Amino acid sequence: MDRIVIHGGRRLHGSIALSGSKNATLPVLMASVLTSEPVLLSNVPRLRDVKTALELLQRLGVTVRWLGPHELEICAANIKSCEAPYELVKTMRASFVVLGPLLARCGRARVSTPGGCAIGARPVNLHISGIRALGAKIQLRNGYVEAHADRLRGARVWLDNPSVGATENIMMAAVRADGRTVIENAAREPEVQDLARMLTSMGAHIAGAGTHVIEIEGVERLHGAEHQIIPDRIEAGSLMIAAAITGGDLTIENAPVDQLDAVIAKLRETGTTVITQDKALRVWRSAPLRPIELRTLPYPGFPTDLQAQMMALLTQAHGTSVITETIFENRFMHALELLRMGADIVMKGATAIVRGSSRLSGAPVMATDLRASMSLLLAGLVAENTTEVSRVYHLDRGYEEVDAKLRSLGADIERVPDRKG
Ligand code: EPZ
Repeated sequence: MDRIVIHGGRRLHGSIALSGSKNATLPVLMASVLTSEPVLLSNVPRLRDVKTALELLQRLGVTVRWLGPHELEICAANIKSCEAPYELVKTMRASFVVLGPLLARCGRARVSTPGGCAIGARPVNLHISGIRALGAKIQLRNGYVEAHADRLRGARVWLDNPSVGATENIMMAAVRADGRTVIENAAREPEVQDLARMLTSMGAHIAGAGTHVIEIEGVERLHGAEHQIIPDRIEAGSLMIAAAITGGDLTIENAPVDQLDAVIAKLRETGTTVITQDKALRVWRSAPLRPIELRTLPYPGFPTDLQAQMMALLTQAHGTSVITETIFENRFMHALELLRMGADIVMKGATAIVRGSSRLSGAPVMATDLRASMSLLLAGLVAENTTEVSRVYHLDRGYEEVDAKLRSLGADIERVPDRKG
């Protein structure tokens, strides 16, 4: 397994362009199953999770062709299997959102349940009850969800909580159902909105994406489309935090500025300067960092996917910060590694108390999930001596060429490939 080695102490400077959003790409890839015509996607990030999603599509009989570094053509003219196997779904839970589109296209689907996860229980009950409400017969057998429906029917679906994946799955099942579906308490995340844009360009009738109530009027068929994936707001936030933690000065090009309100507000509270332009952000810090209170929330609240990175930053603030994680039950694994680097963090249930400013010192640390890996990289950027992050495959799931990008901004960082290749 590759490792990343960082020598801390360099301020980051310069300009950087964002990759396409991982969490927008994954459901959009699954949506391609809804039509027998080709779908052209641009700004697709080259990530491990995208590779896994494409492998799943190919197993279903979908053809996949890279037309350029970030351009993909996908054609689901012939679906030969309706099964998403355990070995793929367990490595990437987002594969579970293939259930809705497969069922809508083929009238049946067999999708493995994802099982446990490093950051929380992450059940799929809301996906299942929503799709069941559309008239599907669903049973759980041998760890698989087996669903069939000769015809899905529109229905009112109320979600217990605004789950991103459940909203996407139900939306993709409903676009070809008979009649009107209304999803209440729907997720408002930009990635849900991007999926709605993609489905609309395929001929779907969707209103309200980005609000708590999404209305879908089913259509008989969907056609091919071209779609550009939105830039990754979590990569943007991670780089903004990199500028703040190193006391650097970064310009982030093609930034989805209007999706980052909560992140910008919280960084400003720490004393970091953020200047917004139409499609770019400049972030720098010259004053000492101030402690803050932070609470993760569904969009447009502060994203859970940036909580770990903010924790790394707050170890450098002068005073005590309080972080409350409200989305996932077990998303503080990075804190244990940060402690090994000299951070002062106490965890009580969903709350972490971070006392700063700590002098971090480099250590061998282990990534436990995608965003935790990024927080360790960020800590390594300011730690004394050398930090060596192992299990880098987590990072490769969701950050495109992160080591090369940080190096281009002045970080002393290198990837040490696994000797076994
Ligand atoms: C998406 O996961 C993202 N993944 C996650 O990104 C992100 O952290 C999360 O949304 C929250 O923003 C993708 O988009 C591929 P949820 P998802 O369903 O859809 C509970 C990253 O690092 N829940 O909104 O799985 C669940 O347990 C990742 O890129 C149920 O109880 O998240 C959680 O507590 C990780 N029943 C809460 O809802 C269900 O049926 C929110 O989860 C579904 C969810």
